[in-house]
Amino acid sequence: MDRAVSDNELTAWDRDHFFHPSTHMAQHARGETPNRIITAAEGVYITDRTGRRSLDAFAGLYCVNVGYGRTKITDAIAAQAAALPYYHAYVGHGSEPSIRLAKMIIDRAPANMSRVFFGLSGSDANETNIKLVWYVNNVLGRPEKKKIISRWRGYHGSGLMTGSLTGLAAFHTLFDLPKAPILHTEAPYYFRRPDRSQSEEQFAGFCADKLEEMILAEGPETVAAFIAEPVLGTGGIVPPPRTYWAKIQAVLAKYDIMLIADEVITGFGRLGSMFGSVHYGVKPDLITIAKGLTSAYAPLSGVIVSERVWRILEQGSDEFGAIGHGWTYSSHPLCAAAGAANLEVVDEMGLVANAGEVGAYFRQKLHDAVGGHRHVGEVRGEGMLAAVEFVRDRDDRAFFDASEKVGVRVAAALVAHGVIGRAMPQGDILGFAPPLCLTREEADIVVDATAKAVREVLG
Ligand SMILES: Cc1ncc(COP(=O)(O)O)c(C=O)c1O
Repeated sequence: MDRAVSDNELTAWDRDHFFHPSTHMAQHARGETPNRIITAAEGVYITDRTGRRSLDAFAGLYCVNVGYGRTKITDAIAAQAAALPYYHAYVGHGSEPSIRLAKMIIDRAPANMSRVFFGLSGSDANETNIKLVWYVNNVLGRPEKKKIISRWRGYHGSGLMTGSLTGLAAFHTLFDLPKAPILHTEAPYYFRRPDRSQSEEQFAGFCADKLEEMILAEGPETVAAFIAEPVLGTGGIVPPPRTYWAKIQAVLAKYDIMLIADEVITGFGRLGSMFGSVHYGVKPDLITIAKGLTSAYAPLSGVIVSERVWRILEQGSDEFGAIGHGWTYSSHPLCAAAGAANLEVVDEMGLVANAGEVGAYFRQKLHDAVGGHRHVGEVRGEGMLAAVEFVRDRDDRAFFDASEKVGVRVAAALVAHGVIGRAMPQGDILGFAPPLCLTREEADIVVDATAKAVREVLG
């Protein structure tokens, strides 16, 4: 830590020069919001510049899956930096870690996956997905089949197309998004179902019917792909009804619509399975990966391309030449070295199984501790993902007035008790996505702090 710079100076520079993502710009500049400067981390704990430690029960942004301080990964990055910090991957070039990592990913991926295209962020990987879907339909001679259907409350990034795919108001407002040709259908959010009398099974059928209605209204010959997270993440951490995925896939198959599984959160173990697609029996054409691929020790994302899509891409380059798509940092060697070491750590520590086991324990304890509170509408989750949704009235699932900022206040109270959760951006929902290495004892700490925070804010 560079103590040559005083705390006051650093804070002033932060207020004056640093444009933070997803931050109230004016309040931050005026010094009305906290500016917590994180300096170190170990296991599931982070430490800030004042020396305060917090249990990070959101793994950064659901990404530090192996926990902090894994020297196997940092050593791999350092060794790669010394040997070869960079070379590009254009025109058939490569570096050893990126080739090894592509193989490791395909070895772990669902059946019938063939190739990995690397990017830097979940957003750019989803931009790649849209371009591939359009490319494929042009190669197949159906240039009108280009619309992409996403879901309300889906989160797929903040680029122009990916921000459009995202189905959350805050990511559209004032940005002139969503842009055509992107449409949004019903989210599989059983707790917020429009008709309270529906069973989960009926609600899953309702979601599939809504999707089919949209496809028919648009014209199936114009709809290219459906994109979805196996479990809704930033939209509220909402697992789907049990039969949702089977019903949705039947509709997609009927109209020859490709399926993009956005596994940026669920890939590499978060649900207690290596991939969410395997967890729910989803058979995607393309899979988006990021976050857990490197546990965020370095920025890396990817698109896993199925054998079926790959064959069409090959056909396209035979007919039209080399694909005109790539980033300077596609498969950056440092990030790929981090990814390969990270996947080894995931295996060595048995983190996929731990996410399933400790995740179930954590969610049960959370349910026991706060599930009966009169302002808790639902405690839900899957694997090492959990959420507590707050309601003004349990019986009619009424929302609190947004101005009360209940979710934000509970999250702030939680921080005061030494635990970081996340006030999800839409609704009064407290989210948890701890590192997959969380122990039962650490889960107890999170649950105790949550119970205290809920009591303090909501009585
Ligand atoms: C499911 C999903 N897709 C895409 C993204 C975008 O990833 P990035 O922020 O790396 O662009 C995220 C980020 O949270 C995500 O959760």
